[in-house]
Amino acid sequence: MISIAVGQSGFSALLEEELTVLRGVKCQEKDDSAVLYNDKMLHKTVFPHFICEAVSIIEADTVNNLAGSIFDFFINANKNHQFENNWNSIFIESKVINGLSRRSSSVSDAFDVIIKKRMSRISKLMNTGNKLEKGKHRGLFVYFFDFNKVAVGINYYYNGQRRMADDQAAPSRSYLKVEEAYGISGNSPGEGDIIVDLGAAPGGWSYSAAKRGAISYAIDNGPLKGGAKDNNHIIHLKSDAFKYVPEQKIDWLFCDMVEEPHRIIEIIEQWFTQRRCRAFVINFKFGHVNPITLIDEIEKNSIINKTEYTLIHLYHDRDELTMTGLLI
Ligand SMILES: C[S@@+](CC[C@H](N)C(=O)[O-])C[C@H]1O[C@@H](n2cnc3c(N)ncnc32)[C@H](O)[C@@H]1O
Repeated sequence: MISIAVGQSGFSALLEEELTVLRGVKCQEKDDSAVLYNDKMLHKTVFPHFICEAVSIIEADTVNNLAGSIFDFFINANKNHQFENNWNSIFIESKVINGLSRRSSSVSDAFDVIIKKRMSRISKLMNTGNKLEKGKHRGLFVYFFDFNKVAVGINYYYNGQRRMADDQAAPSRSYLKVEEAYGISGNSPGEGDIIVDLGAAPGGWSYSAAKRGAISYAIDNGPLKGGAKDNNHIIHLKSDAFKYVPEQKIDWLFCDMVEEPHRIIEIIEQWFTQRRCRAFVINFKFGHVNPITLIDEIEKNSIINKTEYTLIHLYHDRDELTMTGLLI
């Protein structure tokens, strides 16, 4: 069986390494975003945004021929399936080929026309991916390698990465990461929650919590800016995050320090062992370490394993990984 994993453009070498070294599958082919591999669907992965199993590779030279072949595949794959619930069609593409996104939209539109004509009832149950939930789906998944070549399948897993809307008052792009992380864990700070934000400046994460009515202790020697500056929900403490210990148990630990990942692991081990928080969002910058070894270490860490966590490469992450979850 051939499956496809699709991640952030520019990170497919790491995606491939994760699949081969950590998940034990054999990779066949890759481009900037996607890797084809020999095996079935994998859950609990870090770099993939989508994984679709049992894909067919279709090659055709025009929009209509591609849409027609995708439709033929779809009918054939569903010949014994009763459609009762809504289903999602996902069309995504390599990001390095000019005009490929337009091609993908045109084929998606042409597919819609065909399915409306030939399977009217089933077409009414189709969504186009706007509100896609994290998890396993049965629908239609199409990945464009180039103008004439796609991988297509019906069973796919969505890891939940999402582009977030910016906020003019947010003092940093980092704000988008913590906002995205809430969607991954299905949890976000609430009114009156207490946050400790280690490495908080210029204050994007604290600002995100303050917006939700939480109180954030922003630990950083650097200045807070934008909507985080003089915010009456944010208490700025110019201290060393490695030495800061809260006086009582708090709700959320945020940690986005630019520090060597093993130092971050050490600090969160203390926080988790002493049960100083109940939920967390932690970012690891992997610029100076091998991210695959880091993932392996985190996945084998006995203290982290006592929590309910997700480790993921977010849509808004660059050379970094985000871990979010709850202490149990
Ligand atoms: C990537 S920035 C954090 C961005 C922040 N999350 C936001 O949303 O604006 C990293 C911060 O970590 C802080 N930092 C690094 N080491 C620290 C330490 N030992 N104690 C406190 N802050 C530290 C730096 O001063 C820097 O402001």
